[in-house]
Amino acid sequence: MTNKKKKWSALFSAPLDARVAKFNASVRFDYRLAEHDIVSSLAHATMLQNQGIISDSDGDAIKTGLNTILEEIKDNRFDWREEDEDVHFNIERRLVELSGDAGKRLHTARSRNDQVATDLRLFVRARIDMLQKSLSDARCALLTQAEQHVNTLMPGMTHLQVAQPISFAHHMLAYEDMLNRDSARFADCRRRVNILPLGAGALAGTGHPIDRQQVATALAFDGLCENSMDAVSDRDFAIEFTSAAAILMMHLSRFCEEVILWSSPAFGCITLADAFCTGSSIMPQKKNPDVPELIRGKCGRVTGSLTALLMLMKSQPLAYNKDNQEDKEPVFDCADTVQECTDIFAAMVSAINVKVARMRTLLEAGYPTATELADYLVKQGLPFRQAHDVVATIIKTLSTTGTRLEEMTLKELQQHVPQADAGALEVLSAEYAVQARNHVGGTAPEEIERQIKRRREILTVESTSN
Ligand code: ARG
Repeated sequence: MTNKKKKWSALFSAPLDARVAKFNASVRFDYRLAEHDIVSSLAHATMLQNQGIISDSDGDAIKTGLNTILEEIKDNRFDWREEDEDVHFNIERRLVELSGDAGKRLHTARSRNDQVATDLRLFVRARIDMLQKSLSDARCALLTQAEQHVNTLMPGMTHLQVAQPISFAHHMLAYEDMLNRDSARFADCRRRVNILPLGAGALAGTGHPIDRQQVATALAFDGLCENSMDAVSDRDFAIEFTSAAAILMMHLSRFCEEVILWSSPAFGCITLADAFCTGSSIMPQKKNPDVPELIRGKCGRVTGSLTALLMLMKSQPLAYNKDNQEDKEPVFDCADTVQECTDIFAAMVSAINVKVARMRTLLEAGYPTATELADYLVKQGLPFRQAHDVVATIIKTLSTTGTRLEEMTLKELQQHVPQADAGALEVLSAEYAVQARNHVGGTAPEEIERQIKRRREILTVESTSN
């Protein structure tokens, strides 16, 4: 990138201080908007031409020039210059080189303020659409794991202590529900992203006879930003995008945390395929879960982008302020990070191998059917608080010898609850507890099958409507 000194305009008597020029420039990062900038300029030029604001020959020269520039950029032949400040001025400079006075007419009836707002909306829209595809892959991977483990029992935890038996499928579906909400949040966000600011000019609109709807239709926007002041200064759409991304990353980090725990020798109830693990430079025995750890770590980075944008907009007076040039890097970094994490997450979910027997051992170590026994005693007439206490006493006794609840004899039970019958022992198996929860939202295999089927259908409908 070159940096030659030149004056801003006839109004100025000296060029920018070299340090200021560097400080003010954004092309080193906003070059990433180039394609969107050209597409929106093409739509703007066509509208100017259709409205008779520029001549047909100027319109045609502009469009030819912009298409040439697009090719140059795609082929990495474009001469980006820091002295031209940003992506918009760089492209305009080249357009004037290619088409002379026609190129100087492209900026009629627009400002960089409505231009950059349009470009950024196009960027965010494209990234939402790309991310939605990866999110459905991730949801699909969770459903596939669920399908394979409808009957794999594991300890459902509260406080990271064994609580009640659930199926591994049930656990997977909890995450699918989270990602389902994430998809819905991005779809909702997209509706507010997809409205056109162009036409707002610098802040107050334009006196030229423009047709904003024509531009909106050409760029597939669903509507127009109405208030021109809000149109140029609003960055809610970027904040909503990073917010939805931060929530998604929080969900991914929760799953990753579980993968890290489960694959540790202490739990040892899953393995991650070798392609998703790394070794240690010193300890030959190690297989480290770097992938879920990195996703977990990147969650903070995406939340950082959200915070940066919220702080960027805080207290900004209307309308456009140069502060807004600072919106690009958080948006770009957030979009890249969440995209990469979601892609790798989908692949990582498929790389999980469940150690079914070990899951069962972990489950059985924690008296997971204690609640079943208490409930049974309640059905036999004991008040729940009393039943709770009796079962606690039983567990205290059993734990001294390391005996599991299912191993208890009727005689032993009757020492605590004289009226208990043999039926009490039947409720002590994990299978019984799981089967009994055959209601909407429960962990019974039949209900889980229903949930999987329904979620597969939702995914199919979503992918055909995208
Ligand atoms: N590079 C600027 C940005 O990213 C473009 C808009 C500049 N507008 C202005 N009035 N200086 O926000």
